[in-house]
Amino acid sequence: MKFEVRPGGVNTIATDAVITGVFEGDAGQVGAVGELDAALGGIIGDLISSGEVKGKLYEMHVLHTLGKIPSRLAIVAGMGKQAEWDTDKLRGFAGEVVRVLRKHKAKSAAFALRAGNEGGPGHADFSCAVVEGCLLGDYQYKRHMTRDENGHEIGEILLLENDQAVLEAMVKGLEMGRITAGAVMMARDMVNEPANHMTPANMAEIAREVASRHHLGIIVMDRAQMEKEKMGALLGVAQGTSEPPNFIVLDYRGDSAKKEVVGLVGKGLTFDSGGISLKSHEFMSDMKGDMAGGAAVIAAMDAIAQMKLAVNVTALIPATENLPGGRALKPGDVLKASNGKTIEVVNTDAEGRLILADALSYAVKNGLSPIVDLATLTGACHVALGDIYAGLFSNDRGLAERLIKAADKGGEKLWQLPMPEEYRDLNKSDIADIKNSGGRYGGAITAALFLQEFTGETPWAHIDIAGPFMTDKTRGVLVKGATGYGVRTLIRFISGLSER
Ligand code: BES
Ligand code: MN
Ligand code: ZN
Repeated sequence: MKFEVRPGGVNTIATDAVITGVFEGDAGQVGAVGELDAALGGIIGDLISSGEVKGKLYEMHVLHTLGKIPSRLAIVAGMGKQAEWDTDKLRGFAGEVVRVLRKHKAKSAAFALRAGNEGGPGHADFSCAVVEGCLLGDYQYKRHMTRDENGHEIGEILLLENDQAVLEAMVKGLEMGRITAGAVMMARDMVNEPANHMTPANMAEIAREVASRHHLGIIVMDRAQMEKEKMGALLGVAQGTSEPPNFIVLDYRGDSAKKEVVGLVGKGLTFDSGGISLKSHEFMSDMKGDMAGGAAVIAAMDAIAQMKLAVNVTALIPATENLPGGRALKPGDVLKASNGKTIEVVNTDAEGRLILADALSYAVKNGLSPIVDLATLTGACHVALGDIYAGLFSNDRGLAERLIKAADKGGEKLWQLPMPEEYRDLNKSDIADIKNSGGRYGGAITAALFLQEFTGETPWAHIDIAGPFMTDKTRGVLVKGATGYGVRTLIRFISGLSER
């Protein structure tokens, strides 16, 4: 899908489909809709007055133009209430539109919405959102289909804009949108990939490709190197599988004048069976996506490097399977993490915090700051916040605020949860420094408190993405399956730091 900003009007441009939008209560007589209505003999006005076109958000009407304008189809799409229109709604709007284009076999289309005049997003944000929406809404995962019955491709999308003065901003937005959506799709591909195709070795291979594309530093540690680093918690989880684990380190250096190096940590559990504390078979296949945090971090690094952001970032991805093999961890075992702390494993299914314990210790030891980790960590967070909100935990107010702002700009939902002192006792063990489960209540919180034992005083934030890493509904920019959650937030967060 190619994107271009071009001058022109709905009645003169020749594409397969022109796209216009109406708000609730619009009479359809102004701007591009008005022009189109005139060319089509007043049909849009009719549809509105008869109540067929209501302008409800994402409501779609496809009109065949029968030669009255050069484009075969005219789409009149609902934008909802004008006062509620914003960049995120626009992004979702483009996602909905692109699926209509596909359904109607359009190979090219032109958006005739204006950035400024709806009181919504500015020009760069506008074009960025349209590109993100189109690419993400059109995303399909078909790698393992040997036959493709619906192989329709949309070749070209135009954004109609006659004001030369805003062209540069719009073209910049297109580029940001293309890079961002590319990274989100890369993360989606990794998460959708079944566990037999996305092993720790496959993750490392993808990280190597990112590194060689953009000249990043990369280290992939194997079992022996992890032993040297005394990563007993990660190695403990990796005991139960014969699939070799990896600890992936990716280095991007975008500003040699800055001393500070930001740490991004992503859980790379390529399949979580629960281990000896085996999960029930229902939904177990979803656990191929337990590496969604790691995927988001690798994909964000790809985008950060492409955008040449003026920051230094190191990404850490502990990658392994969690299986109940003959050498697997047993409930009651005690492990020693690389920062020297001992952990009683009361539940082998609470493995995410174990592998993160060693990754966070490594981040602290190497002076990374701030540290942000992403992990499909707890079912409890999914229960608490549902499918669209990720949970945020932090020991640093400013960092939390910056992440929430970044999520908001990126179109992802993030909600901060507390880390009360009072709950720390729940993680106390009778025989070791700490145990790996604080029980049923406040499960997302006790998991975050566990992680905090490994971050020391370093400014740190933990994002629990167990809710939004997958979706079972196609809507807006989301398509059933992996969402690529976190990529957009991380890109905006790092790009915000680069401007400081
Ligand atoms: N990967 C899971 C959490 C998860 C569940 C993510 C569902 C996405 C969807 C994690 O490793 C896990 O099993 N957590 C346990 C922790 C418990 C044993 C303390 C959980 O949430 O049940
Ligand atoms: Mn688990
Ligand atoms: Zn897990």
